[in-house]
Parts: sequence; C-alpha cells; structure tokens
Amino acid sequence: MSLKKGHEVTLTIEGAAFKGKGIGKVDGMAVFVTGTMPGDEVKARIIKRKKNYREGKLLEILNPSPDRTEPLCQHAKVCGGCSWQHVPYQKQLEFKTQQVTDHIHRIGGLDTPVLPALGSEKELYYRNKMEYSVSTRRWLTEEEIHSEEFVDDSGFAAGLHAPGRFDKILNLNECHLQRKESFEILSFVRKYCEENNIEAFNTFEKTGYLRHVMIRTAHHTDDFMVNLVTFKDEPETIKHLSEELLNAFPVITTIVNNVNDQISPVAIGRYEHVIYGPGYIRDKIGEFEFKIHPNAFFQTNTAQAEKLYEVARTYADLKDGDVVYDLYCGVGTLSLFMSQKASKVLGIELVDVAVENARYNAKENNVENVSFVKGDMKDVFTPEMVQEFGTPDVLITDPPRAGMHPDVVSRLCELKVPRIVYVSCDSSTMARDLKILSEVYDVIEVQPVDMFPQTYHVEAVAKLSLKEI
Ligand SMILES: C[S@@+](CC[C@H](N)C(=O)[O-])C[C@H]1O[C@@H](n2cnc3c(N)ncnc32)[C@H](O)[C@@H]1O
Repeated sequence: MSLKKGHEVTLTIEGAAFKGKGIGKVDGMAVFVTGTMPGDEVKARIIKRKKNYREGKLLEILNPSPDRTEPLCQHAKVCGGCSWQHVPYQKQLEFKTQQVTDHIHRIGGLDTPVLPALGSEKELYYRNKMEYSVSTRRWLTEEEIHSEEFVDDSGFAAGLHAPGRFDKILNLNECHLQRKESFEILSFVRKYCEENNIEAFNTFEKTGYLRHVMIRTAHHTDDFMVNLVTFKDEPETIKHLSEELLNAFPVITTIVNNVNDQISPVAIGRYEHVIYGPGYIRDKIGEFEFKIHPNAFFQTNTAQAEKLYEVARTYADLKDGDVVYDLYCGVGTLSLFMSQKASKVLGIELVDVAVENARYNAKENNVENVSFVKGDMKDVFTPEMVQEFGTPDVLITDPPRAGMHPDVVSRLCELKVPRIVYVSCDSSTMARDLKILSEVYDVIEVQPVDMFPQTYHVEAVAKLSLKEI
C-alpha cells in the first residue's frame, strides 16, 4: 500500500514520539497520530506524506489503551495548551524518560545512563504565569463546524490561541494550568467587557481595546498580579475595570496596564501604568528572592525550577573558590544559585532586558560576585574573554531549543573545562551537541526534570567531566 494522502488506515499505537504524537506502523511504514497514546487502536486519515513516514489525523479510537484516562478539561482535544491530558501522569513521566533516553542513545550515540524523570508535585495548577489572548474572532467547536446552521465566529473571545492560529482564540470555559482564580478573572473580564461594550482587539483592522489578560502568581508568597494589555490608553476604562476586579477578587495585590499600540501581537506594552499595588510580585527560587515585573522572564513552574537548579548545582559539584561560567544565563537565576561557593560567576546572555533583570536580581539579593555580559554567545564567548575573566572550573550551559551554535561547541572542546553542566529544554539538540562534546568530555549521567505536566515537553540536565588522558 502506498499510503497516499487521504487514505484511511487502522493501526495500533506502539510508542510516544516527537511532539507527543503516538507512533504506529502500517505495512512497515511509520505513521504519527496526534492525540493518541501507546496501546490505542485507532482509525486515522493520512494528511502528510514524507519519504520515511506519514502523518495521520485521528478519526476514531477503535480500542482505547487500557492506560487511557479521561481528560479533566473540556478543551483538551482542541486546545494546544495540554496535549497529554489523556495520559496518566506516571505514564507521561515514563514517556518523557524514554524520549530523553532515545535521543541520548540514538542521536548522541552515547550509552550514558538516563535517570527516571523527576515528576512535579503538582500535576495541574502549576503555572505561575498565564497569558490569555483576546480577539474578535473565536475558534469554533467541532459541533459548530459540523452544524448545518450558520455559526457566527465574531464577538469577544478570551482564552488561548487555537493551535497554529494567530488570529483565532479558543474561548476558554475552563483551564487548569494556573490556580483557579486565574481562569475566574478571565471569565470576569470577558463578561465585564461584553456588558460594558468594551471591544476586543481586532487583529486585521487594528481596532478595539483589550488585547491580553496576563496573570502572574507566586509560589512562596501570596502576591497576585493582573496585567491588562490594551491597544489604546484609556485611563477611565482601565480604572473602572480595575475597581470591579479588585472588588470581586481581593486576592489581587497589583494591577498593571501595558499599552501595546503597535502591530506586534505581544503582551509587552510600549509603556505601562501601574494601576494598583507595587507593579510587581515577589517570589523565591531556593534562597533567592525575586521582584517579578510584568514583562520579566521567570521560570513558569517555580517548584520544579527549584528541583532543576538543585540537580544542576549537584552536578556542578562546586568547590570553594571555583570560577563559574553561566552560558545563556537569562535573568541570572542559575548564576545566583552557583554564586555561594564560587569565587566569581560570569553570566552571558543575548537579550538586553534579561541582562538588565539579571543585574537587578543580583543587586536585590546582595550578591556581589556575579557579573553579566550581553552578546551573542558565538561572538562574545572568546579566548580573549576567558583570558580576561579567568579559566572556568565549572561551566553551566542552558541554551534555547536550537541548542548551542557549532562554534560554541568547538570552543567548549578547546577550553577543556573540568566540569560542565548542560541544561536543556530539547534533548534532541542536546544529544547532537553532546555527541561532539563527548570527544573531550565523559558524559556521566542525564537527569530529566518535568517542568510541564500534561504536555510532552521535558527538561534534561547532563553532567560532563573532562576526560582523563
Ligand atoms: C533556556 S533559556 C535559559 C534561561 C536561564 N538559564 C534560566 O534558567 O532562567 C535560554 C537563554 O538563552 C538566550 N539566548 C538565545 N540565543 C542566544 C545567543 N545566541 N547568545 C546568547 N544568549 C542567547 C535567551 O535569550 C534565553 O535567555
């Protein structure tokens, strides 16, 4: 069978693969199907035909896997937020561990042991930040799409973007990723706007008012921020909405209005007004305290970030007086974590605001032995920089999804650092980099850490030490 586009096939899902898709075989050909899990027998339609595999759209589950569980959320099938709600948490952890192991073994060509993924205590309600979007266009439900009647998709939609759609919003009736007040506030704002004729932002015409409702909560304090991102600056409108919010939700400790009057669809304003409270929330990671402003980067699952950083610190095996480098340091959280035993820490980061935040965080925590350099890693992390700052005893690297630039990997090979800790949010690119690094370093152990339950994403930390010759 040539398995052309449009063909309907029946298959049994054997594994969990790339981006959480289930994988099975038809006549020896791999077929990936979203929304399935190992053990499911399904009917699918081929929608993509590649040389070595096909992609199928799930049509029907003929025989569910005995492990399947009923998703808690009514939007689970459509919403891109949580693609694994039908998989029990213990199984999610097994699949994540397996995924990291496959990458390390197959892509990295390494036989390094991969430990079982460290699970999150909270399987739901674990996010400290939700960025809901508001639009005049609503994503239709399956029933509406198949309805005989004309269905109007215009109005005031507030929720999350439909997968792959910048213009359509899945109008959420529930969401279990952040504490429950978060979703209640979103519903309240939607209702208030509808009743008071406050318009949603229209992406195509660039008109309307409300663009995003961002909510930031803290893990170690009771601080609670609502950030209303608007297209226009209307002090009276925001004042009334904020008063109503504060009356209805005494839990709110600060309200901010970011005004984004530009075309770019981001939740960051060109300027902001603090409407109520201090304009930031406070939270802790380990022994360090952070003032988190609306647009500052902060790990979204605080409790798991602590676990991740603890693993990194243990792998770093710091000795008194060590010189530490923190590549791709973001807002410097790991730099701070490493600072106590080290004689000095140098964080390097591309993004201006992140470097500003990092310096601010160090100052707020009275940490004086960390410094930060802004720049593209491949350009600034040079032998001259190392000569100036000192030879590293320990190097932490936490690159973005794409992994490290080949020039940076080569430099790490030349530099011969006694200990390296590689933190990664994509184990396939980490495995690619480890394959090259393993010519100079022993890759001793890998620990996956689950920061995002109900999704297929997983972080992993690898411990490397310089080969003894
Ligand atoms: C996964 S984050 C690391 C965050 C940080 N270690 C933490 O735990 O909060 C990756 C960081 O790399 C930065 N980055 C991306 N490309 C870069 C480059 N070419 N040079 C330097 N930094 C870069 C991003 O801005 C981002 O802050």
